[in-house]
Amino acid sequence: MGDMQTTYIMIKPDGVQRGLVGEILARFENKGLRLVGLQQVIPSNEVAEAHYAVHKERPFYPGLIKFITSGPVIAMAWRGVEAIKVSRNLIGPTNGRDASPGTIRGDLAMDIGHNLIHGSDSEDTAKYELNLWFPDGISDWKRDIEDQIYE
Ligand code: RTP
Ligand code: MG
Repeated sequence: MGDMQTTYIMIKPDGVQRGLVGEILARFENKGLRLVGLQQVIPSNEVAEAHYAVHKERPFYPGLIKFITSGPVIAMAWRGVEAIKVSRNLIGPTNGRDASPGTIRGDLAMDIGHNLIHGSDSEDTAKYELNLWFPDGISDWKRDIEDQIYE
C-alpha cells in the first residue's frame, strides 16, 4: 500500500459562486478520501500571493490573484493513501476543455482560468499549503469503516 498523505484542496470562487460546493465535496467523499479540514474564507492578498508564489513571474499571475481573492473559497484537507495523486486524478487537467469527462474539471469547467478547484501537486507543496491555509493545524480522526475502504 502507498503512503498515507494529507492534501490541500480548495474550491475556488467560481465553484462557490456557481453553487458547486456540494457536488465537488461529494466526489472526494464518494471516492473514499477522508475530510480532515474544512473552512470557508475570503483569501487575503498575502495568503493568495504565498499560495501562488511559484507562478509569480507568469503573465496570468495578476489575474489569478485577483480571481482567487474575489470571493469565498472552500479550503479543505483530505487524507488517504496517495491522496495527492488520487485528488489530482479526480480534478483533471488544468484546462476544463481538455479534461476528460468523469473528472471535476472535465464535467464542470470550460476555462483554464476558471477551473473550479485547486489540488496540491507534491508532498512538499501539500505541506506548504496546509500550513498556509490551516495555520492552527488540522485534526485527524479515526474512521470506523476504514477497513471497508482499504484491504
Ligand atoms: P492548481 O494549482 O490551481 O491546482 O491548478 P494546476 O496545478 O492544474 O495548474 P497550475 O499550472 O499550477 O496553474 C495554477 C492556476 O493558474 C491558472 N492558470 N491560468 N491563463 C493561463 O494560461 C493559466 N495557466 C494557469 C489556473 O487557474 C491554474 O489552476
Ligand atoms: Mg498547480
